[in-house]
Amino acid sequence: MDQFDSRESNYEYFAQGGLLINDGIIEKCGPLSSLIPFISEDVSIIDYSDKLIIPGFIDTHLHYPQIDVIASPGKDLLDWLERFTFRSEAKYQNPDWANQSSEFFLEELLRNGTTSALVFGTVHPESADALFSAAFERNFRLITGKVAMDRNCPEYLQDTPESSYEEALELINNWHLKGRLQYAITPRFAITSSEAQLEKTAELACLYPNMVIQTHLAENVDEVAWMKELFPKHRSYLDVYDQYGLLRPNSIYAHCIYLDELDEKRLHTTQSSIAFCPTSNLFLGSGLMNLQHYLNKKIQVSLATDIGGGTTFSMLRTMGRAYEVAHLRGDVMSAFDLFYLATFAGAKVLGLDRHIGNFMPGKEADFIVLDLKATPLMERRINSCQTLEEELFVAIILGDDRNIQATYLMAEKKYQRM
Ligand code: GUN
Ligand code: ZN
Repeated sequence: MDQFDSRESNYEYFAQGGLLINDGIIEKCGPLSSLIPFISEDVSIIDYSDKLIIPGFIDTHLHYPQIDVIASPGKDLLDWLERFTFRSEAKYQNPDWANQSSEFFLEELLRNGTTSALVFGTVHPESADALFSAAFERNFRLITGKVAMDRNCPEYLQDTPESSYEEALELINNWHLKGRLQYAITPRFAITSSEAQLEKTAELACLYPNMVIQTHLAENVDEVAWMKELFPKHRSYLDVYDQYGLLRPNSIYAHCIYLDELDEKRLHTTQSSIAFCPTSNLFLGSGLMNLQHYLNKKIQVSLATDIGGGTTFSMLRTMGRAYEVAHLRGDVMSAFDLFYLATFAGAKVLGLDRHIGNFMPGKEADFIVLDLKATPLMERRINSCQTLEEELFVAIILGDDRNIQATYLMAEKKYQRM
């Protein structure tokens, strides 16, 4: 399966279906009748017969230290960072604050049906440490990193080229590939890293050629103009990351609203990917990313909430805003394409498609139970739907955390709606 296939090949639906799971791993998925021969007496059965079971959502870009910044009305990205965000991130030097925020953050993800996430910490290694620890306790599939930033931000949030490298190495030694956790190399964006820090980041990336890389790219017009002043010799914003060897499979660039044709070619040939953050782009007034154009160019795109520039933890709501942004660009996305973006596309860009993203045998049983009739209006509207796609579309446009009845990680129930 891939993102560029026709939508018909990108989903399977069983009206009377089941998942057969052993030790947290999917053994079979199919019509109930095909599973019955494999159900012995010691198999316990959970019945969700009037609900839809789908793979857990995969959020490929968000900032856990920004949970207290959501809904802060900045004029634009740079104003919002300066007036609200940096100040809030300063608190993550305190391990107690980082610990309690990590707990809250993961519970909120589970409440919204998100079972895997690629997350920014702050500059403080304590922030990544706390989130890794809380995710490990829950067996949550989480990728995070300590942010590298050594200039153009308040001094209390600055590290150095050497400390960012050393602290990353220590976190890698402690957490990378422990259970379902992975470390991500996390320079905040070109503006807040000196060339010396980008060189150390490149060194780290060489040392770990398969490690996920996450950063921001071409989100806002003033940001792009500032980047040009800071890196006058570089052809483009993307070219800065390219020169430091940061474009490669499993590198994930958030936003990418302002790219040119050469940038697009480089993203494609290096198999780098874009995290589309529609609620954030709308809220911060950043612009309308051209989703269908990138898909036409066979650039990998996944979906993300970008909390706290983004305005919701719900990937259903995020799909709704993705639909609307694409629509304003003249394209009509199908419900299947949008669900794909929120699930398997995320698994692919993170290099995790062998483990998560759908219900193929051998995958980890991370799934959610969707209640499509969570409110009287939704129930009424679903009752007039003729097809599965219509029903999914209703969930995308009207839905949110209210539709998540339960969330399972490797077949263990971690959230149950009251
Ligand atoms: N660019 C650099 N830092 C950030 C951030 O925290 N949020 C967003 N949306 N863009 C950024
Ligand atoms: Zn971001």
